[in-house]
Parts: sequence; C-alpha cells; structure tokens
Amino acid sequence: MHWTKHIATCAAALLIGVAPFAVGGQTTPTTHMSKMKAASANGKDWWQNAVIYEIYPRSFQDSNGDGIGDLNGITKRLDYLRDLGVDAVWLSPIYPSPQVDFGYDISDYQNIDPQYGTLADFDKLVSEAKKRHIRVVMDMVMNHSSDKHKWFLESRSSRTNPYRDWYVWQDGKGQTETSKGEVPNNWQSDFGHSAWEWDEKTRQYYYHKFYIQQPDFNWDNPKVHDAFKDIIKFWLNRGVGGFRFDAITTLYEDPNLIDDDVMKDKDGKSFTNAYGDIALNDTRTNNLPGVHPVMQEVRATMDTFGANGFPGTRVLIGETYLPNVAELAKQYGTSDKPEFQLPMDTQVGFINKLDVAAFRAKLTDAETQLGSNTPLFVFDNHDNARLDARYGDGTHDTDIQRVIATMLFASRGTSLFYYGDEIGMKTTPPTRKEDVKDPVGLTGWPKDKGRDGERTPMQWEATANAGFTTDTAKPWLPVPPSASTINVQAEKADPNSLLAWYRSLTKLKKSNADLARGDEKMLDTDNSKVLSWERHTSGTSRVVVAVNFTAEAQTVNLAGGAKMPAVHLQTLLKTPGAADPASLGAIRLGPYGVYIGEAK
Ligand code: NOJ
Repeated sequence: MHWTKHIATCAAALLIGVAPFAVGGQTTPTTHMSKMKAASANGKDWWQNAVIYEIYPRSFQDSNGDGIGDLNGITKRLDYLRDLGVDAVWLSPIYPSPQVDFGYDISDYQNIDPQYGTLADFDKLVSEAKKRHIRVVMDMVMNHSSDKHKWFLESRSSRTNPYRDWYVWQDGKGQTETSKGEVPNNWQSDFGHSAWEWDEKTRQYYYHKFYIQQPDFNWDNPKVHDAFKDIIKFWLNRGVGGFRFDAITTLYEDPNLIDDDVMKDKDGKSFTNAYGDIALNDTRTNNLPGVHPVMQEVRATMDTFGANGFPGTRVLIGETYLPNVAELAKQYGTSDKPEFQLPMDTQVGFINKLDVAAFRAKLTDAETQLGSNTPLFVFDNHDNARLDARYGDGTHDTDIQRVIATMLFASRGTSLFYYGDEIGMKTTPPTRKEDVKDPVGLTGWPKDKGRDGERTPMQWEATANAGFTTDTAKPWLPVPPSASTINVQAEKADPNSLLAWYRSLTKLKKSNADLARGDEKMLDTDNSKVLSWERHTSGTSRVVVAVNFTAEAQTVNLAGGAKMPAVHLQTLLKTPGAADPASLGAIRLGPYGVYIGEAK
C-alpha cells in the first residue's frame, strides 16, 4: 500500500539517522486558550475528548440511485451517527473535481461537485447535523489542486501569466531550445515515478507530489496564502466545524532541489517499490519547516471566527504522517503561535501489528511527549487496508477489532475512526486489474492494488446493494460479499456485536469522568501479552483497562504498580470471556478479551 510505504519511509528516515527534533529545546506546546469560550461542562473543549467519524462520501449513502454516495445520503444517516456517539464527521473532499484522485484533485474550492449535491444540500447537512450536535469538518487540500483548476489552466497557458508562479515550475537539467533535458532531480511522486511533468506548451516541468493531474502550489507565493485564507473563511461562514488538512507536511520542497536519498535495506542495498521505482527517502519534499508559519496563519484566521452556535471552538486536524512523536509535538505550535489542535498521531494506529510493547511505548509517548496537548488517535482511513488486513488473524478478527477500539476510545484524547470500522467491514480489493478505480492500483498492480479495497460501499443491511443504493443500481465499487452478515441492521439487533461495543465505548468515553478527562498511566509494564493502563482524574476513583493481545486466556494482576486504594473493581465494560466480578489482583480475560473496571 502506498500509505504503508509512506510510513515505512518515515521509519527508514529514523533508521538512517535523520535527526529527530527535540521538544525540549522549545516552548512546551500548549493549547491556545485565549479565544476559547464555553468549554464543555467537564472543563474541556469539545475536541479534547471527542469522537470523530471519517466519511468517504462516495461510499457512504447514495440518495438518488446513481450508485455514488452523496450529501443527502449522509443527511439521511445522521441519526445513526448520533446514536453511535459521533461529535463530528470529517468528509473527504466533496468539491468539484475531475475525480482522478476521487476528490483530492479539486477544480473549484468553493462549490460542491454535482455528483454529491449542491451548496443548498451542504447547508442542509450542516444544519441537520447541528440539530444532533454533530459538527461537519471539511477536507482542505492546500498542497495541490486539480490540473483542471482555473488557476492551473492559467498558470500553464504562458510563462508570463499572472498565475504562473502559483505552481512549482522548473527548467529541465541541461534543457536547451530544442531539448527538454532531464527532469530537474530525482524526486518522486508518492503515486509512482518522477514528480516532474513536462509541459510542452510553455517548455518547463511542473512538480506534483501526487498524481500528474495534481500540480503542487508554490507556497512561496503570498497570493496562494491569501487565496486559501478566503477559501477557509468561505466554509467557516457556512458553519463548518473545522478542517482536516490533507498532505499538509508536503507543502514545501527543498528550494535547492537537492536529490532525495536512496533508501537502503538491511544489507545496505537499494531496492525498488511496488511501482518499480528505486525507493527514496522523501526528506527533501516532506516535513520542511515552512509549513509551520502557514498553519499559524490558518489558525489565526480560524480563531477570529466564533463557534457557530456550538460550545467550544472550531478545529484544525492535520494529516500528519511523521517519523516520531517529537515531530508530531511540533505540529501543535506553541501557546504564542498555535497551529493544529489535533494533528493525527499516526505513530500508534499504524503500528500494524498487535505488539504489546510497541503500543505501550507509543501510547506512553502520546501521554508524556505532547505537553498539555490532546492526542488524536486514528487506526484507519481511506488510504490504508482496513483493520482486518492490518491487525486481524483471519480467525479472531472481530475480537481483535474490539481490542483496537478499546485502545482508540479508552486512551486519553480524541478518537477518529473510519466509516465501517464500527461493524468490522473487511478490506475487499479488486480481483482483476480491469476493475481497478484508484489509478495507483493500476500503476502498482498486482503488488499494490490501490485503495479501492478500503472504499467499498457502507454495509447497512443484507439486501442486494446493502442499502447503500437502490437494489438495481450499479454501485461505483462493488458491495463486498461479506455484507450479507456484516451490516448495521444485523449488528444493531445483536447486543454482542462489534457495533454494540463501539457504542458502549463512545458512551463510556463521555460519561465516565476518569475516561473523559483522566491522565493515563501504563500498568504491569513487563507484560508482553496484555496491555493494561489506568485513567485517573484528581478524584478518588480510577479506571483500569486490560486488553489481551493473544488468542489464549490471560490473567493479570494490576494491584502492584497501580497502588490502588481499593481492590474490588466495578465492571464498566467487558467482553463475554472476561470474568466478573474482578479484583485488581486478578483480572481474567478470554482470548483477545477486554476488561474495563473502576476502582472507587
Ligand atoms: C492524502 C489523502 O488522504 C489521499 O487520499 C490523497 O490521495 C493524497 N493525500 C493526495 O491528496
């Protein structure tokens, strides 16, 4: 997978010694409070203990029978989201787009793609969501536009066009009047092959970190900054709850155009990736410091807006794949110059292996290395194989997904999950190359089948098209066969379903004071089979959570390190195999079992 590749790249950066940034030397990042008002009753702003749900609009609910999900479809499902405990939905892009990258190639930032509806449908969605206390968060793509955006059409029309320097243009190496020379350097697109595309009309190369149809903006141009400020204000005025910033770490490139380094395997040899390219470490096109002043500007713009009738502020979420927690800490900015409230912590959720020690270490990092900021945990999205493929064993997948959900919701911070995770939707990639919709799946076939497998229609019920669209329509991606058993209707009726587990967790996250705002501390830290932690506010109660990472029953003793005042535990939530009553000295867990209890 492309995104797994991206993470591997970051990990490799560490291995070959790219200096991690120490938080120590700078002001401890703190949350910007000056503009905040009306924080929620528990003393936190809404986004500090929130449940955020990612919707891939194309695949969630079709309302007009064309086989493509739309805004009115989402509006129809708002009660479901409210009952799931969702505070905000993040919509992947719904702007007009040629849909090469299914909306991440935007051709107009201030409108809605007719496939998804109209601005009036959008306004209705926002107001109906608000009635259910749900905020709508937009995806904001500032790294690139579509090559069909009027700005790029202008830019590529002549070298003297006023929009020329809105994008990144460069002469070829050794270019002459008659030859284009070679590409300016070895930089690669994340979707395969050179990141430079020759434009014959104006005889220069343009840079694209992603598809050829996604030219990168030139963020050294102040006009680009101004244009995005206007776009952001446009949506804030329409009542959105905030933004998720796409590919935000790739806004800037090395101005000296230095080549990226070749990655080395454990024998010190270079290797090729799924696209047949020599694998590179993209340190010259990713995570450059220029992004910080940009996000400070965006935050300042956003903070001048009120809360739109909701308690608390609007929120900036970052797509922040980074090599370590110190880099993540920097994304929050400082108290004087705040940036994101919620940059995604991809360190925890994309470990991609049920490894107790690794989770313990990464969750501890999130608790201890981010200052007073709020971690945003996320285990899944539209760019990665779903949870079954990355964490499942094929036998205990549902139990394992309960384990994952427990880490997601019972850890301190905000929880972001992907549509369908709550029912255990399975990764269902295309089986034939001719069925692939995501272009990266064509470039990478068969090693990388693209991202269609995690974007299949939401499984609402056991009918022909799973309730996603009409029974006779052709959904844009096929409904997986698993929809006959894995669907919302069936799981709503089953108190032991994964959906029921998600609902219980989101409810507990809000209703239990220790889980809502308690600090977090790992317990039983030598145990390699069970991950245990406590959550504790200043009161006398504590919540303990024990999660079995193995297929065998386990018993844990949490009395030692925790110094709990009481040994008897009151069960808050448990999987069927976990024993109840439990005491702190003996919590018995079935295979992949979970126990959450409170010591008073
Ligand atoms: C990250 C998005 O999540 C992904 O789907 C998209 O292809 C790239 N950014 C480019 O916008």
